[in-house]
Amino acid sequence: MARIGLLTGGGDCPGLNAVIRAVVRKGINVHGHELVGYRYGWAGVLAGESMVLDQRSTSGILHRGGTILGTSRTNPFKAGGPGTPGVRATLERDGIDALIPIGGEDTLGVAKRLADEGVPVVGVPKTIDNDLAGTDFTFGFQTAVQIATDAIDRLHTTAESHNRVIVVEVMGRHAGWIAAYSGIAGGADVVLVPERPFDVSEVCERIQRRHRNGRTFSIVVVAEGAVARDGAVSGTGAGAGEVATDAFGHARLGGIALELEREIERRTGFESRMTILGHVQRGGTPLAYDRVLGTRFGVAAVDAVTGGTYGVMTALRGTEIVLAPLDEALAAPKLLDPALFETAEVFFG
Ligand code: F6P
Repeated sequence: MARIGLLTGGGDCPGLNAVIRAVVRKGINVHGHELVGYRYGWAGVLAGESMVLDQRSTSGILHRGGTILGTSRTNPFKAGGPGTPGVRATLERDGIDALIPIGGEDTLGVAKRLADEGVPVVGVPKTIDNDLAGTDFTFGFQTAVQIATDAIDRLHTTAESHNRVIVVEVMGRHAGWIAAYSGIAGGADVVLVPERPFDVSEVCERIQRRHRNGRTFSIVVVAEGAVARDGAVSGTGAGAGEVATDAFGHARLGGIALELEREIERRTGFESRMTILGHVQRGGTPLAYDRVLGTRFGVAAVDAVTGGTYGVMTALRGTEIVLAPLDEALAAPKLLDPALFETAEVFFG
């Protein structure tokens, strides 16, 4: 029997509650552990703010979006922050034997530093962006892709009715997974991703060529982290002054679609409109796929703690759930598979 701490950090993501529920159910019913949930990511660990996780508190949460624990982008290793001693103080006070942090590159980056300093940690990878290495997919991604695809389907009919160019901005800070998947599924005419800096005049040329061939509307899907080759268009709002960053130093993205809308309309003369999907992609009910993946990750994480395997995270490889070293997952972001982008490109204007 062990006392295990659980936390969800970083941006929320559909499927987090499925992981929490799975850790708790298997942890209590099969292994006889006790579970403590820290509130709001690392903030709750540092402040010692927790809640009991048991059958009752995790009942009825499987289909719910968000996280019952709350989340934040608090970084214990921020300059002047409490670091490992701050985390250890709470774990010792609460009698915690091991920690299961559920999060993306930042939360797992903290987990890795703690693991390197001897804190028993098993991570669970989470991000709608699907940009964590070491795992084929993260939960939340499929739900985000479906939300984006549904939106593109709806924008398609209005673009068609008005003979407009519609620019749809989706999430994806370092990687264009959501853009490529939803672009392929939604039949986008142009997909712009962070991995491939683009040329605004080439985008306009594609749209013009399409219109010369008789089409009267176009759909452009752009990832928030995409940038123009000449830097003329980007989603950091850099032109508007200082770029806002979070506790992990990431720029707050959003707005490239607005710049593109203006440029496309100015250069082509085609009436253009943009839609930024933003956090709607992270909210609400997870798809069955993400509930199942989250459940499998949760079960594997609590099994790893029970077996005393630390410094790892759960991962999907093919159809199997495995344990991958945190080092491997955090070495570099998992960028878009070029073959996938080339498939999307087949259908560009
Ligand atoms: O969690 C990943 C992500 O959704 C990115 O796609 C996006 O850039 C970022 O989080 C937004 O973060 P926030 O919720 O802090 O606005």
